[in-house]
Amino acid sequence: MTDTATNAPETPKKTTLTVTIDGVAMEANPGELLIAAAERTGTYIPRFCWHPRMKEVGMCRMCLVEVSGPRGMSLQPACMQPCAEAMVVDTKSATVKKAQDGVLEFLLVNHPLDCPVCDKGGECPLQDQTLTFGPGESRFVEEKRHNEKPIPISDLVLLDRERCILCDRCTRFSKEVAGDPLIHFINRGNATEVNTFPDDPFASYFSGNVVQICPVGALTASPYRFAARPWDLDQVESTCTSCAVGCRVVVQSSGDEITRLQGVDSDPVNWGWLCDKGRFDFEAISSPSRLSAPLVRAARGAAPEKVSWSSAMARIASALRAYQPSEIGFIGGARLTNEDQYAYVRLAKQVLRTDNVDAQLADGLTPDAWLGFPKATINDMATAGAIVLLGPDLKEELPVLFLRLRDAAVNKKVPVIEFAAAPTGVSPYATESVRYRPGEVAVALKAVLVAAAGTSAERQIGGVEAESINAAGRVLASAMAGGKKIVVILGRASMAEPDKAFVEAALALTAASKEVAILPAMRRANLHGALDMGMAPGLLPGRVTHGEGGAWFAAHWGAGPSGPGLDTAAMLKGAGDGTIKALVLLGADPVADFVDRDLAERGLLGAEFVVAIDTLPNDSNAHAHVLLPAAGFGEKSGTTTNLEGRVTSLSSKVSAPGTARADWMIATELAALLGTDFGYETVGDVTDDIAATVSSHAGATRAELSRPSNADGIVVPVPVPLPVVVPVVVSESVSPDDAAEARVDGNAEPKPPAVAVTKPLRVRAVDGVVPQPDSYSLRLITGRVLYDQGSIVQASSSLANLARPASVRLHSGEIERHAMHPGDVIRVVSQTGELALTIEVDDHLPRGVAFVPWNLGDRGVNTLLNVGELATDGITKVRLESGRS
Ligand code: SF4
Ligand code: SF4
Ligand code: FES
Repeated sequence: MTDTATNAPETPKKTTLTVTIDGVAMEANPGELLIAAAERTGTYIPRFCWHPRMKEVGMCRMCLVEVSGPRGMSLQPACMQPCAEAMVVDTKSATVKKAQDGVLEFLLVNHPLDCPVCDKGGECPLQDQTLTFGPGESRFVEEKRHNEKPIPISDLVLLDRERCILCDRCTRFSKEVAGDPLIHFINRGNATEVNTFPDDPFASYFSGNVVQICPVGALTASPYRFAARPWDLDQVESTCTSCAVGCRVVVQSSGDEITRLQGVDSDPVNWGWLCDKGRFDFEAISSPSRLSAPLVRAARGAAPEKVSWSSAMARIASALRAYQPSEIGFIGGARLTNEDQYAYVRLAKQVLRTDNVDAQLADGLTPDAWLGFPKATINDMATAGAIVLLGPDLKEELPVLFLRLRDAAVNKKVPVIEFAAAPTGVSPYATESVRYRPGEVAVALKAVLVAAAGTSAERQIGGVEAESINAAGRVLASAMAGGKKIVVILGRASMAEPDKAFVEAALALTAASKEVAILPAMRRANLHGALDMGMAPGLLPGRVTHGEGGAWFAAHWGAGPSGPGLDTAAMLKGAGDGTIKALVLLGADPVADFVDRDLAERGLLGAEFVVAIDTLPNDSNAHAHVLLPAAGFGEKSGTTTNLEGRVTSLSSKVSAPGTARADWMIATELAALLGTDFGYETVGDVTDDIAATVSSHAGATRAELSRPSNADGIVVPVPVPLPVVVPVVVSESVSPDDAAEARVDGNAEPKPPAVAVTKPLRVRAVDGVVPQPDSYSLRLITGRVLYDQGSIVQASSSLANLARPASVRLHSGEIERHAMHPGDVIRVVSQTGELALTIEVDDHLPRGVAFVPWNLGDRGVNTLLNVGELATDGITKVRLESGRS
């Protein structure tokens, strides 16, 4: 090789290919499948089995096209054919047409053509493609195949087997995407059919997706079967608000009733997939138990009476007017829209001047832990050097995030290190599962960091065997050396463990590498929005503390909180003690969801005046003196913010029941009755106010959100030129006098404090209290499950029965040690309470722990949790006793 040759500049590699489709040259990406490249450039090739989010199988041959090759043009399935340079393709030749005729004619040999009674009729690819590409008539006159129909293959999905065209989409989805290989092809040749295993139903949290992707009506969803015809349906795009993933959906209605939700392929979020809870819990919207008129009780315990809105609102206003700011508390709000939340924050912090506002029910992390770390998106996670799971069971709590993680682990080979006291849905895909003793996650994680730095563990630490620590350390070290982002999914794994242990673990990781970023595993749909809007004590809209933004907001609003506020635990304690006199529940059920059921009940009974604003009755709003009906999902517009900080639009589709109203309207009217005009006429006015006032949401304007390029939403804070920060005198509490002073601060048009954009919240260091090992007691683990006894699931008729009975799960060794038996009903006793529960064997659990799912049974596991004075080390220990109490 000559010097000249060595030093010659390399010819740049061609990054695109040129393909000629039907005589038109177009660009394709290397490796891109012909069917996808053709569609992207405007040529639709018919297909049944191919799906852009699954591996190609070439089953149906509907996509046959003529492709050039060494021997001239030949028929090739476009879904199996990667584009190649100078490829020539004909999708309309006589040969292609003949192939398409043949494929369709044979698919229809046994197809029942019962289109008039098929849910898919009118939106069926088989119908549509037969019309567009088919032969027009069939040569077959024989009797068609008949099968029993419909066959329920799960609680939610029905199979009409003779309609099946064996495209392999449902079976591939279940195996490849969901990891639930519960439906299969059985038999061979002409006898091939889709089936489930005997005695093993298609019990998947993601079963509704196979109904959506089945290209015929072979799979139908029981909640939609015969409910509507496609031409009756009207639809809008929106966002699922059943959890914090924020999957994009199409909401379809017929006759002012929501009939179906379909997943939308949002590339950064859900790829078209939905979990079954998100897909089917729309049934709760038209539940007969929906609240539809204001209810007022003359006194606690009295029967509720229906009253007019004006009299209910007047009663609330006159009651709240009588209390000092420090005597009023607002609990909840994390399931509402950003607009609802902002209006309530103004009502509480500006009008009533109380900072006692908390969207969380002591079951998550502190606001600075959620917002203060460097943040990652779901796509960052999918392409990370490693994923560290320091949070809840994603399959139960954030199901589509689980699907995205599973795809990253299985298909992209992203290593996953799972820190979990008990096995989770992620465990089968984890490169290493670190099974720490409940309460000792930080100890275990620090041991892994030490191992990653080169010093191997030689003994068990935090309940984790040295071998597991060292294995996780090797995975982490290799990821750190790779220089790619390490995404930590951070949340409160178990409400029976202290939140500070998870924060301490995350702090240790962020200190170890600047490549670490956090994806918050938040427990409620719009908690991110709630915190951004200031629904936490000590926070104001835009992720600013009172010190950073108190004077500005006091100036802007004309008033601000009179002093630092209380969190939910302190509010409930205050209500029980008589220092908090009025509680306002914003779509919240503390009796079921707060970590200490007894304290929640004492607080609600102790408060002089309780207002609840909700969509459905629950154990907490049964205590309300005034209960207002709120509009729910699909009944109001606005925006929501998912766990990444992605703001998307919510659309209204149907009317709210009775006189139910959107929460922002309720807050606005109450403010007016209390003497403050927010100036909101429409929900858009609130969105505009948020974009102008909440610095973390600057740039998420209505105009930006409605741009087609922002169809997947806008991740906040948007990197926009920062507004000028008004120099203000900071103080913890701001009086109207301070406000006036700030208003004359020399700037005619003060801008909101932009602290969130320039400087994230500082995550407070936590003191690591290490629980002492104990010899007899079991450590309690509790986490949420997808189907529970929450009001939404129970008001959804198709889902209500999927909630399992309450039980205590134990390793068989523990059951034997206690001389008990599976199926026994025993007493699970903690320092604070006891529950009668049935024993369930779970040998995946480690010894020494008891797992009780959250919110199942007559009295939830929050009966057992140690909070307050009893929470010495933040963990709850239980003992098992024979017999019912
Ligand atoms: Fe395809 Fe539907 Fe048959 Fe499944 S049931 S193989 S998705 S046609
Ligand atoms: Fe809805 Fe969450 Fe399920 Fe997505 S994962 S469909 S947001 S409940
Ligand atoms: Fe290509 Fe089915 S879509 S073979």
